[in-house]
Formats: sequence, structure tokens, C-alpha cells
Amino acid sequence: MTQAIDGLTSRAMDAAPSITRELANTAMGTQGLIPLWFGEPNEPTPKFICDAATRALADGETFYAEGLGRPFLRHALSDYMTNLYGRQIGSDRIAVTVSGGNALNLAFQSVLEEGDMVATITPAFPNLLAIPRLQGARLITHSMEIRDGRWHLDVDAFLEAAKPAKAVLLNSPSNPTGFMLEHDDMRHILHVLRQRGTWLISDEVYARIVFERTVASSFLDVSEPEDRLIVVNSFSKSWAMTGWRLGWLTLPPSLTPVIEKIAEFSVACAPPFAQRAAVTALAEGEPFIAETIAKYRLALDLVKETLASHPKVTFPVPNSAFYAFFRLNGVEDSVSLARDLIANAKVGLAPGEAFLMKEPGWFRLCFAQTPEQLGEALERLQPWLKQTHG
Ligand SMILES: Cc1ncc(COP(=O)(O)O)c(C=O)c1O
Repeated sequence: MTQAIDGLTSRAMDAAPSITRELANTAMGTQGLIPLWFGEPNEPTPKFICDAATRALADGETFYAEGLGRPFLRHALSDYMTNLYGRQIGSDRIAVTVSGGNALNLAFQSVLEEGDMVATITPAFPNLLAIPRLQGARLITHSMEIRDGRWHLDVDAFLEAAKPAKAVLLNSPSNPTGFMLEHDDMRHILHVLRQRGTWLISDEVYARIVFERTVASSFLDVSEPEDRLIVVNSFSKSWAMTGWRLGWLTLPPSLTPVIEKIAEFSVACAPPFAQRAAVTALAEGEPFIAETIAKYRLALDLVKETLASHPKVTFPVPNSAFYAFFRLNGVEDSVSLARDLIANAKVGLAPGEAFLMKEPGWFRLCFAQTPEQLGEALERLQPWLKQTHG
């Protein structure tokens, strides 16, 4: 008898499972484990946001909603983006999505044909590579390098490598490195891609998780509305709403109806009570964002104290996002060491392989944690730091 599994697509079968998810599954139930592998704030969503959702549920906001999002949320996002970037971004350019991940899927569904090439940089959040692949794209990856203790992108070399690509995918601020593109490079990239007619998908979900200013540079700062630019944002990180599954796209106005059409065939619409809460997050969330950034800054200082000066650790210190991406020099197998850390240090780190790091010994640690938990985790790592040979 033919097995059901024989009839599946190679796209689905070849999709690499998430290494971090596998490690986390094997660690399930480990008593006392401090999990620092996933990218999410440790605190639940603030009460004022939850209350808005509860009120909306009580008011019966439980029906299907508009495919592009409730008009009041699209307007609120238009105002938010316009204030943040100092240029008019109309609500006709906004599509509310069911998470940043869904936003990425819709973006790629709208621009990719089977076999098209997508160029991106590594190390990268693995979903950024898996999503276009699942849609039949082939990837061109270009590695960043470390220069003077900082992550560095050779923009011209990347653009050269990206020549055959139908779409370029960039993630700034970056998960896992915290690398950020600045306006000069963004202008240059956009100029070159414009000439080639290449699409640019810019994942800016960490735009507000920045330590030396209020918002990261955006491609929206340097573009025109009808540029082939799709910007991906999310409520997950800035407002501690990872479980809500709510994000949004900023689109060329002519693409918005196409997104409306294709979104209908997957999720149809974002949950209306969550959208009501999202408006509250935008209207009243600035003090919360400022407070959490202050906490992340202290957490980063704590991580820096342990890692940045360690002779056997390479740690380009980030200015954004909430990850420490570091290398234990001399470690040959990060996945084995990650397993060892689960069993013996009771600390969960994501190994660098998950982010397409070719060199061994890299790990990602999410420092969006209480100082107590983070301090304890760093203390537990000490014996492994001492053992490391560089
Ligand atoms: C770079 C990047 N993009 C997109 C996402 C997806 O965010 P969400 O689907 O929770 O909105 C994440 C989540 O970790 C991320 O790190």
C-alpha cells in the first residue's frame, strides 16, 4: 500500500525542522531549566492591553472582520507609522496580518513564482529562510562578517550576489545579531534594487527594540510609496504580545488589494478583539516600551559583564533586539554543547546552526529576562566558559 507520506510535496518534506524547537521539546519537563532560546519577552502582555481585549470580547467583537484589518486599526497604524517616520504613510498602505510570520508569508506569496531566487544575509532567523523556500523559492545567502568587534555587511558584495534575485529579504534590526542598517546603506540598496526592478521585503519587527534611540532606521524613511518595498512589522516584541499573533504590512498602495485577496484564502482576517487591543497598545503603549527598553539595557549590561570581556568568547555587542549572539571559541559542536547545557547547567540556548552560522561554537541567548533569572543563568554557564578552549 502506498504510504500517505509518499504523496507529499518535496517542499514540505525538505523543510528543515527547527533545531531550537527540537532541543526545547527534548528539554520539556526538565526541572529548574532557564529557557533563553526563544525570542520573546519574559513578562505577560501588560494589563491595559489585555483589558481592552476583554472589553471587546464582552462587547461581542467575535465575528469575522475585514480582510485588511479593522479600519480603526489601519488608521491607528497609519498615524503611528506617520509619527514614527515623519512621513505620511496612508492607511491604504496598511494590511493587518495574523503575526509577523503571516505577514512574511503574504509578502512572499504576492511576489514569488516557483523557482524564483530570494537573496538574504546570514546569520538569520531561520523562518526567514524557510518561508520563501516553502513557497518554491531558491535562496542566495550572503554571510556577514565581524569587523572591529561589530557585525558588518559588505553591501556591495551582497548586492552583487543578489543580482539574480527576484526579491531581497533584509532584517534590520537583526535577529540574532542585533545588526542594524543605516540610512546611507538603505538608500544605496533601494537605489540599486529600484534600477533592477527587484522587490525588497524588509523585516522590521524589532524596530522599537533599540537602545540608543526611539526607533531603528527604516526603509520607509528613504522610499517612495510605489517602490517595490514591503515592510513587515509585528505586535509581538514591542508590546509583549507574542501569543496574540498580530502583525502588519506596509505596502505600495497598488499591492494592498492583492494582499486583501490572497489573505482571504488563508486566515481571512485577524481576530477583531485582538485588533481592538492593538489600538490600545499603540495609543497607550509608549511608556511600556520605554520601561521595557530600560530593562533590556540593564539585562544587556549583565550579559556584557560576563561575556564581552571573556578571553575565550567572541561577542559583538548589539545595540538592538534582545539577543546576545556569541561564540565560545574552541567549541566544535554547538548542538551537543546546547544539549549538555540543558542537562547539566539547566540553561536553554539556541545553537548558531539554527541561524545558518557555518562556524561552530555560536549560541543565541535571549536576554529579555528578569535580572535574577538572567544572573542565575550566566552563573550556571561559568563552568562551561572556563572549560572553553580558544
Ligand atoms: C526577525 C523576525 N521576524 C519575524 C518574526 C515573527 O514574529 P511574529 O510572527 O511573532 O510576529 C520573528 C520572531 O521571532 C523574528 O525574529
